[in-house]
Order: sequence, then structure tokens, then C-alpha cells
Amino acid sequence: MQSERSMSRRRFIASTTALMAASQLRAAETATPALAIEGGAKTIKTKVPKLVRWGAPERERLNATIAQDTLFYWHGPQTTALIERVQKWVPAKWVMTCSSGTAAIHTAMIAAGIAPGDEVITTPITDIGSVIGVLYQQGVPVFADLGAHTYNLDPAAVERAITPKTKAILAVHLCGNPCRLNELKEIADAHKLILIEDACQAWGAKYDGKPIGTIGHMACFSLQSTKQVTCGDGGVICSNDERFGPRLQPSADKGSNRSNAKAALNVLATNYRMTEMQAAVASSQLDRLEGIASKRSQLGRLLSSELAGIPGIAPHELAPNDRCTHYIYFFRMDPKKLKCSRTQLVAALKAEGAEVSPGYIPELIHEMPMFQQHGFFAGRWPIKELGLTNIDYTKVKCPEANAILNTCVKVQLHEAMSEDYMREVAAAIRKVAIHYAV
Ligand SMILES: Cc1ncc(COP(=O)(O)O)c(C=O)c1O
Repeated sequence: MQSERSMSRRRFIASTTALMAASQLRAAETATPALAIEGGAKTIKTKVPKLVRWGAPERERLNATIAQDTLFYWHGPQTTALIERVQKWVPAKWVMTCSSGTAAIHTAMIAAGIAPGDEVITTPITDIGSVIGVLYQQGVPVFADLGAHTYNLDPAAVERAITPKTKAILAVHLCGNPCRLNELKEIADAHKLILIEDACQAWGAKYDGKPIGTIGHMACFSLQSTKQVTCGDGGVICSNDERFGPRLQPSADKGSNRSNAKAALNVLATNYRMTEMQAAVASSQLDRLEGIASKRSQLGRLLSSELAGIPGIAPHELAPNDRCTHYIYFFRMDPKKLKCSRTQLVAALKAEGAEVSPGYIPELIHEMPMFQQHGFFAGRWPIKELGLTNIDYTKVKCPEANAILNTCVKVQLHEAMSEDYMREVAAAIRKVAIHYAV
């Protein structure tokens, strides 16, 4: 009796010990590794080499420029070389070099004939340089909502924003990700609108296999210092359209037509000329573009495929036939699926060694105080005072754009990074997201 009782006691202890061990094993299998922010090991171990963006080719061209007897753009050898290189990327008949992306877009607005009260539909998530030229022409930027994961204009929202005053669509290829250009072009053609591509962030990008900048009536590029290629500051405008192409040069050069002085533009245009020095650096940079564009595109695609299926994380949406050249890579977090704030998520990712930051611009463009107060010119807006527009930016609603800005996380991505490094970045995002998953 006694031995039977002690037998069952021994069996009881043995079986509970086995059960406890099994459950501990299961817990160990399912538990995520400790986050680096809580003292765990860092996920990212690969070092990113320093990004070297210019060197001997740029120096040689600059030296050659100093040896020239002109630094003026018109027929200058560096500008000519730059235009030839641009045309290899964007086969456009007319190309005008200028001083910035903002200048390129303003020039396009002048060439498009944007007049007081004309509406230009665009995105509320962009650089302010997208709309400065519209405002200087006394046009009215109209903001349409965006695709949830492309972060680009939603063609249906563009169509809804068209009014009898609409003159143009400014399609911003945000992050270097091409807009849905065929649909936008169809809408533009159906409503007799001018389609202008803001390709300032999209050097080297392709839409459905075609070079960016060839579907719109005009396309504008920036050579500002953070862009895929740069000369410090600079811009380029391209067009294949007989109506706008011949107007590009005068519209960036005080209205004067350098091919035919008698045919000067009878419009007010400012001096947006680019010098030979900028063109020298920019043309060397364009020789580097294929390597830069293909590497960025490859890394972005890899990251999007690695992030697919991670709870609470939505990767940058990239159309299969497009080439996004990732000026920026964004993913979005789903606050309903993660029990952390974006600040906590970013802090945890940084601790894992990822180069990430929350958000992009501080607020949607129409939410900037200048727009909310309709006070672009010393606190006033003549076209509103004259009744040429009744837009009220305090009432504009772009809910998806708002949600994007509040949930997006920017991941540093550039051509010096390796695929292995990008996989580690994805692993860090996976680890942190699983840890915080609801
Ligand atoms: C989408 C977009 N549009 C316009 C601009 C203006 O270009 P820039 O800074 O060369 O004037 C930028 C540059 O930041 C941009 O990213």
C-alpha cells in the first residue's frame, strides 16, 4: 500500500516535470528574442560602407570647365553634354537645364500658360517646391488623395477633383515610385488637361518599362543635393510636345528666345539659368545613374518582398513592371495590429541598428499655416480677394494622405548598401513587429 502510494507520487512528479519541461520548450520556441532596446542582441551586424557620391570624373569635368572660355549655358560644352545625357534617359526633343527642381516646375507652369485662378491637381504629400511655381503663377493647387501604399495620386481622386477651372495635373512620383501614368494621361486627355510629371525624386525610374518623363506633356527633375544624382542644386525640364517644348528655354530665361531673338516669349519669366559649373558636375553624375538607379531599385524590391506578411507592417507597393529608384523607402505600420506607437517602433528599430525615422514632411501641404490662412503673398492672396478662386484649404480632406503621414516610417536606402544588409534591416523590422504584434 505504502509502496503503491509512493509509486504514484513518483509517477505524478515525473509526469508533471515532463509536462513543465515540454511547456517551457514550447514557450522558448515561440518567444521572440529580446529586443535590443531591452538589452537583447542587435539584429543588424553588417556595416554600411560610406556613400561616395562624386570623385575623379566630376573633378576632371570641373577642371575642363575652368579651362573653357565661357561659363555661360547657351551652347556651353558642359550644358550640351548634360542635355545629351538627359536625352539618353528621357528621349525628349526639348530639354532645358535650370537652377533647381522648384525652378523646373515653375518653368513648366509658365510654359503651360497657368493663369490666375487656374487649378492644378496634385498630391498633399510632396516637397513644397512642387507647388511654389503654381502659386507664383497665381494658380491654385488642388490636393487629391493618394493610394494607401504607393503614396502617389489616386487617379479616381484626381478625377473627382476636376472642375471647369482645372488646367493641369502635376503627378509627383514620390520616392521615385512612378504614378499610375496611363490612367492619369487618359484622364488628362479626356478633360483636355496638361499632365506634368514631377520627377524630382525619380531619376532613372521607369513606368511600365518606359523611362519616366515621357508620358506627361512635360517632366521636371531636381539635381538638389539629396537626389539620386546631384550638382548641389539644379534642375531639368523635358518635353516632346510641340506646344510646350519651344517655350521651355524662354520660360526659364527671362522670356528671351536664344535661338530667335525676335520670337521672345511675351510672358513674365524669371532667370532660372544653370551655369556650366553645375552642368559639368551633373553630366558626370548622369554617367553614374544606371548603377545608382538599378541598385536602389533592386534593394527596394528586396525589402518590399522581405516585409510582405509581417504583422502590422505594410511594405512600399511597387508595380511589377515599374522601376522605383527609391529616393526614399517607406513602409507603413498598422496601429490596430501593433501595440506600440510609431515613436516606440522607430526607437526599437534604431536600437536594432536600422537607419529609420518617423514620417516625412511635418504636415500635409494644405495644412501648412500659409495655406490654412490663404496668405501666400505677405499674408494676402490676391486671386482669392478678387474672387478668382473660392478654395478653402481649411476644408480640404485627404484622409488616406493623412493616415500615410501618421503611420509611415522612412528606411534609409542607398546604393552603397548590400542585399545582406537589407535582409538584416527586414529581419529587424520582423523581430520588432512580432514583439509588438497584438
Ligand atoms: C517631389 C519634389 N518636387 C520638387 C522638389 C524641388 O526641387 P528642388 O529642391 O531642387 O528645388 C523636390 C525636392 O526636394 C521634390 O522632392
